[in-house]
Amino acid sequence: MASKKKVPSTSVSKAQSSAHAPADALSKPEAEAELKRLAAEIARHDALYYQNDAPEISDADYDALRQRNAALEARFPDLKLSESPSDRVGATPVAAFGKVTHRVPMLSLGNAFSDEDVTDFVARVRRFLGLVADDPLEFTAEPKIDGLSIALRYENGVFVEAATRGDGAEGENVTRNVSTIKSIPKVLKGKDVPAVMEVRGEIYYRHADFAKLNEAQAAAGAKVFANPRNAAAGSLRQLDATITASRPLQFFAYTWGEVSALPAATQAGVVAAFKRWGLPVNPLTQTVSSAQELIAYYGGIAEKRSTLGYDIDGVVYKVNRLDLQDRLGFVSRSPRWAIAHKFAAEQATTVLRGIEIQVGRTGSLTPVARLQPVNVGGVVVTNATLHNEDEIRRKDVRVGDTVIVQRAGDVIPQVVGPVLDKRPKDATPYEFPKTCPICGSHAVREADGDEASAGGVVRRCTGGLICPAQAKERLKHFVSRLAFDIEGLGDEKIEQFYGDQKLRTPADIFTLETRNGQEFPALQEQKGYGKRSIEKLFAAIDARRTIGLQRFLFALGIRHVGEGTSKDLAKAYLTWDAFHAAVSAAVAGGAGSTAYQDIDDIDGIGTTVVDALIEFFKEPHNTEIVAELLRHVTVTPFERVATTASPVTGKTVVFTGTLEKFSRNEAKATAERLGAKVSGSISGKTDYLVAGADAGSKLAKAREAGVTVLTEDEWLALIAQT
Ligand code: IVH
Repeated sequence: MASKKKVPSTSVSKAQSSAHAPADALSKPEAEAELKRLAAEIARHDALYYQNDAPEISDADYDALRQRNAALEARFPDLKLSESPSDRVGATPVAAFGKVTHRVPMLSLGNAFSDEDVTDFVARVRRFLGLVADDPLEFTAEPKIDGLSIALRYENGVFVEAATRGDGAEGENVTRNVSTIKSIPKVLKGKDVPAVMEVRGEIYYRHADFAKLNEAQAAAGAKVFANPRNAAAGSLRQLDATITASRPLQFFAYTWGEVSALPAATQAGVVAAFKRWGLPVNPLTQTVSSAQELIAYYGGIAEKRSTLGYDIDGVVYKVNRLDLQDRLGFVSRSPRWAIAHKFAAEQATTVLRGIEIQVGRTGSLTPVARLQPVNVGGVVVTNATLHNEDEIRRKDVRVGDTVIVQRAGDVIPQVVGPVLDKRPKDATPYEFPKTCPICGSHAVREADGDEASAGGVVRRCTGGLICPAQAKERLKHFVSRLAFDIEGLGDEKIEQFYGDQKLRTPADIFTLETRNGQEFPALQEQKGYGKRSIEKLFAAIDARRTIGLQRFLFALGIRHVGEGTSKDLAKAYLTWDAFHAAVSAAVAGGAGSTAYQDIDDIDGIGTTVVDALIEFFKEPHNTEIVAELLRHVTVTPFERVATTASPVTGKTVVFTGTLEKFSRNEAKATAERLGAKVSGSISGKTDYLVAGADAGSKLAKAREAGVTVLTEDEWLALIAQT
């Protein structure tokens, strides 16, 4: 089955029908029928996605359909339909809404699934804050609404702007639509409304209204929505605001973004102010003071869930005091001071029609279950993850099996396992391919840190860049948001440009404009590419000819070098030249050399990363690609951006002894937030030693070295000057 394929495609199905046979195995008449089927299916999914806000398949599956279409067209150019999907660039009506940059990012919440996760959360918060046994700590507890998060900006009490969450940094401007929502006040009541007040909360649909909407839709022959959340999204993102106006959308306010002044010192106090000002707030919100009470609250809400009249997917706990919220801060994209306690996953059974292997950026082969469509808690599921080879073996999931599928909130649906009494007699154990289904190279099993601990060993294609799947995934990664962030060069364009050989390596992106109209017919004159969109694309590419070191390192797609590691490396080396010299020395010296050790010594970097760097840079393929890229791109030095410029920005601090005013973790987090580097030992680079009670050898060493020694209070006074 894992035959060498001539036509690039990222997936191969195990099912038998011709609709699932590899694109290069079809005869011409079969291909003709298949192209028609694909055109209809892609058009249907376009409509589901763009017009109805009710996609039935994942982006990856959609891309696979388009790829299959492109592969067949490449084999049989004369069969290409006049209305071929490949001539249509996906409609993006959302672009009709302007963008809004969130002044305070809209973050997400960490999840708790069990009582133990909740006790851990409370313990973690207490530890971070350095609280002891009887110190009180209050939380608010409230339902987690399954709707759409929205930011409403009020200036001098008057509603001026509404934005969706988007990617958290930038959302869509939906002011006109939101201004038609009756439950959202246009003017806030009361004398204590701050000059700037960005209220955040959830827009949702009530069950009763949802049922009425779907009845009316069905009667009018219009599409029905899969669930209230999709109905809310669809109603909000109407280009015609009169449609939004006709839909009874509801709103609950529960947090805030930018504010000129806060009306209270606690979470509950601010929400009470929201209520006074006329904003709808959830009446089930409570204030409690222990993990046991939080768990009891969860149980109570779970019991009421079916009678609430709107969808919730769990409850949310937040530390009540805002000064404590500030001290706790954030870890990556979630607050340390809040957590979502989710309800158990929804399950359903369906038939496993096939297992498809997708090849990722680093060559990992990931099995994806193709399922007979099934409704799982209001969402139609057609694909689910099977994780990896070991998981399939452990669960003994076979094609043809009836399987249990589950989804929890926004996570990818999973196959839990087979229903054995429904197993067809002829079902055979699944054999995981030993070669890459895309390029035919050997696929080898590899145990390494992350995957092994995540419950299995990954099989990887050894084809590197000769594997079209890997090459394409790397390009997609290269242009992605945290890397080069090239607008207008999304997954679909990469597929197209790769498919027709306009792009092979990252450097090709930067020569696209000079080759346009020379090596291939000018894009702006081809069907399906607007002149303006091509101009915009070239401008977006030009804007990235200069790029910061952190983004550049991340974009290279080196294994184990994610966003955080790229930052650690950029921070340590500051310039590309310094980084490159250090890594080249480690490549030459190998494990055990001083050069190797020097990289390993960087805060946050371990041997897994050093090995991955060496692995990458010793490969001539990769160094050539990087060298070529550097002919077009200038890498600018890393700039230390302290979130707040402070007296300790750029200083190195060591904490020692028993700290009483804050925990070690909090001390470290605060110092880093203020731009200081926290180290574990005294060296020539140390600027301050903050010494708690019983400070031992470090204190002596610091005195000897002439390092400034501070008490906890002196440290607090120093950083208070910020
Ligand atoms: S508080 C820093 N409270 O859940 C994040 N979020 O997973 C503060 N949500 O994007 C969010 N009900 O859309 C909060 N009562 C509630 C919520 C709630 C629903 C959503 C919100 C957020 C997502 C986080």
